[in-house]
Amino acid sequence: MCGIVGYVGPQGALDVVLEGLRRLEYRGYDSAGVAVLSDGELSTAKKAGKLANLEKVLAEEPLPSSTIGIGHTRWATHGGPTDRNAHPHLSADGKVAVVHNGIIENFALLRAEIEATGTEFSSETDTEVVAHLLAAVYRETPAGEGRLAEAMRAVSRRLDGAFTLVATHADEPDTLVASRRNSPLVVGIGETADGTAEYFLGSDVAAFIGHTRNALELGQDQVVELHRTRGATVTDFAGAPVEPTSYTVDWDAAAAEKGGYPWFMLKEIAEQPQAVADTLLGRLGESGELVLDEVRLSDQELRDIDKVFVVACGTAYHAGLIAKYAIEHWTRIPVEVEVASEFRYRDPVLDRSTLVVVISQSGETMDTLMALRHAREQKARVLAICNANGSTIPRESDAVLYTHAGPEVAVASTKGFLTQVVACYLVGLFLAQVRGVKYEDEIAAIVDDLRRLPEAVAKVLEQMEPVRELGRELADANTILFLGRHVGFPVALEGALKLKELAYIHAEGFAAGELKHGPIAVVDQGTPVVVVVPSPRSRNSVHGKVVSNIQEVRARGARTIVIAEEGDEDVVPFADHLIRVPRTPTLMAPVVTTVPLQVLACEIADTRGFDVDQPRNLAKSVTVE
Ligand code: M6R
Repeated sequence: MCGIVGYVGPQGALDVVLEGLRRLEYRGYDSAGVAVLSDGELSTAKKAGKLANLEKVLAEEPLPSSTIGIGHTRWATHGGPTDRNAHPHLSADGKVAVVHNGIIENFALLRAEIEATGTEFSSETDTEVVAHLLAAVYRETPAGEGRLAEAMRAVSRRLDGAFTLVATHADEPDTLVASRRNSPLVVGIGETADGTAEYFLGSDVAAFIGHTRNALELGQDQVVELHRTRGATVTDFAGAPVEPTSYTVDWDAAAAEKGGYPWFMLKEIAEQPQAVADTLLGRLGESGELVLDEVRLSDQELRDIDKVFVVACGTAYHAGLIAKYAIEHWTRIPVEVEVASEFRYRDPVLDRSTLVVVISQSGETMDTLMALRHAREQKARVLAICNANGSTIPRESDAVLYTHAGPEVAVASTKGFLTQVVACYLVGLFLAQVRGVKYEDEIAAIVDDLRRLPEAVAKVLEQMEPVRELGRELADANTILFLGRHVGFPVALEGALKLKELAYIHAEGFAAGELKHGPIAVVDQGTPVVVVVPSPRSRNSVHGKVVSNIQEVRARGARTIVIAEEGDEDVVPFADHLIRVPRTPTLMAPVVTTVPLQVLACEIADTRGFDVDQPRNLAKSVTVE
């Protein structure tokens, strides 16, 4: 939530900062703003709404040229999405400009203290207290190298809550400082063609990927000073030097472009066969065994596990629900799945022999991070499934399995989800392999099934035109229901979530078996009901029951939209719309059945004229609780 950018170097700062904001806009789009420092004076421009509004303002009233600047795209928490509350915020003396992501929990107390000195506030934000405090503490800090960083450390020590702060001071034309606690921030280190050093700050690497792929990770409670000639200096909040970890970003700027698609979401849907293949790459051995060297838990630790929790939010939680079916079936270890925001507040039973699998595309979701920390405090082992390299969640986990989906820019997760599901299969099967609960040939047969998934997803994508047409027809629907059973139930939940978040249509996913216990009362003449049908070949024989459910809703006037595998003829008489998917083993069916639901939601939203990539009220990564 909220995108932050900073730059100091030889280039025109405003252009670099605006480019970074364009790439980070998916983190929040309630307002945008920039500040640049030129001839000892800070100038700002800020505007409510999307970045385009700010760009219009800048075209009419350009800012002075500068080689140091900061910028922000906002997802509002304290104070409405107005011009006044847009970041950057300035101190009363106009010397300090600050941008912030997170929530400063003791801001009311600090605000009262500052107001008591006669300072007037110009916004309702929690952030503004930092601008005033920083200016005041700077004045009292002895002049010399590192003065602004010293002031930032002193201010950071007074703040409670979660924050990434980036600040610049009118008297320090060569310095940017940033502070980080529980909110994301990465440093980019680059060099222009003539060899001049330049430094970037971003909520994630997308902010500067067009300039450099060399990045530094910042840990918790650390302050970084970026100085034009002295370079990057990192300390903890007490001032002790810290050696930061550097890494190279393994994707380039083109991966974060639309590549000719009208929406990032469409591009990301189309990338799914490759993303699934990349997530499997190097992990399926030639003799049909799994090779997960990066899971840094010893075989003994994995053998000692007697319970698994899967903890995540939103779409990642739905991936976790699918994981339960696969892990329990393959390993016979009991699995509980829980939304991260509930997990730690109900005192779950955890110990050394519990494996907690946290799933997060961004690696920065605050609820998931807090659940992870709680699990580790209780001595449980934590394995992260994550897409973003160098993010907080994998850094704080005992082990990590990266999905290799590449950057996911659209707020609605698609390739992130599919690769999370695949990573869950890998974890389940790996546990079965290490614990010896499956014969080698059984593992090898499942590995073969996994190898076929990218092709199966590609095949689904080839047949999406009728789904798009259906999406255009359903654009005026008031309610759409989704039914599924077994692994089809989480798919139904995911289909409903996609539709809600993109098309703002009331949608609900149900376990099909629950239909007659209440939900069927919602069905009326013409109500669209999407049914995810299990394979008729599945051994647990729920297929027949779901076919009966289709008839039951149809008898009450529903317009049935049936997703069924090729060759399933039982559903044909009862399907008003039939969407075919390739035959896939029961547990792996979600990888193909989810795809039409993504396409459907995208098309409905587009037909209704909504911004598919940036739905209202949402942000890509939820970094506050
Ligand atoms: O980055 P994460 O995977 O931790 O994000 C979790 C959810 O916020 C995310 O999946 C959200 O539900 C998406 N907008 C769904 O499309």
